[in-house]
Amino acid sequence: MSRIVYVNGRYQPAAEALVSVDDRAFTFGDGVYEVCEVSRGALIEERRHLDRLGRSLRGVRIDWPLGREALRFVIREVVRRNRVRDGLVYLQVSRGVARRDHGFPPATVRPGLMVAARALDPSVNAARAAAGVAVVTVPETRWAHPHIKTLQLLPNVLAKQAAREALAFEAWFVDKDGLVTEGASTNAWIVTADGVLVTRQADDSILHGVTRATLIDVAAALSVRVVERPFTPDEAKAAREAFFSSATTIAMPVVSLDGTKIGDGRPGPVTLALRRAFREVAVRS
Ligand code: PDD
Repeated sequence: MSRIVYVNGRYQPAAEALVSVDDRAFTFGDGVYEVCEVSRGALIEERRHLDRLGRSLRGVRIDWPLGREALRFVIREVVRRNRVRDGLVYLQVSRGVARRDHGFPPATVRPGLMVAARALDPSVNAARAAAGVAVVTVPETRWAHPHIKTLQLLPNVLAKQAAREALAFEAWFVDKDGLVTEGASTNAWIVTADGVLVTRQADDSILHGVTRATLIDVAAALSVRVVERPFTPDEAKAAREAFFSSATTIAMPVVSLDGTKIGDGRPGPVTLALRRAFREVAVRS
């Protein structure tokens, strides 16, 4: 079965779908995106993802490419046409197609929309979570607005590659004050010695992760206290547990940071409890 993508009004086999070389996503990275998990045929926290898409679009002054309800229909149609039961939906909106010029194109240029979906084997992440993963730190080199989910991901790409080359799974950015901001594609968390869940406050320095927001709900359901504040790599190394979160990883245990073992070097009980309870608390649609 060929992979089907939606591009600017048409559902097409991915191999045949074309985007103009003048698309501003291509020339400037001028666009925003979302990644939403699909689990047992349902979209996970779709409302929060679309709310964030709206905030990202506003943040870079791009119009909605379609009405919200029409977009929800297209997302479902792409999931259905690709027969994705477990996996993810990827969607991106660009400022549209116009001859290269840094300033915005005329208002007649419509935003571009691409929606794709792909199946993922849930057992891969389950095995990863059972063992836990390694993280390395890298200097924060991104622009001043990481809370906007833009397509401009070069620092994130380089950070993830640095992690791979260090045989780690994720990189955590550390800002000029020596504080962890977030991961290359995830939010960062620790569990302190007294069992408090700590994650950086959702200000302009991090992406406001949908999974992060849901995990705060999960923590409340499990009566785990959450404090939103920054932490240093040293605090993380001394923490009882650490993990990171995203739509594609849920709560993923971190068992080492820059080569230092965290806790007893195995996934911690709080992380695993949050991971288990996530499915019960997350909104399915
Ligand atoms: N990444 N921080 C960054 C920089 C991210 O790119 C992401 C998501 C997150 C977690 O957000 P959420 O819980 O809403 O997935 C935090 C997606 C999965 C990606 O780029 O593939």
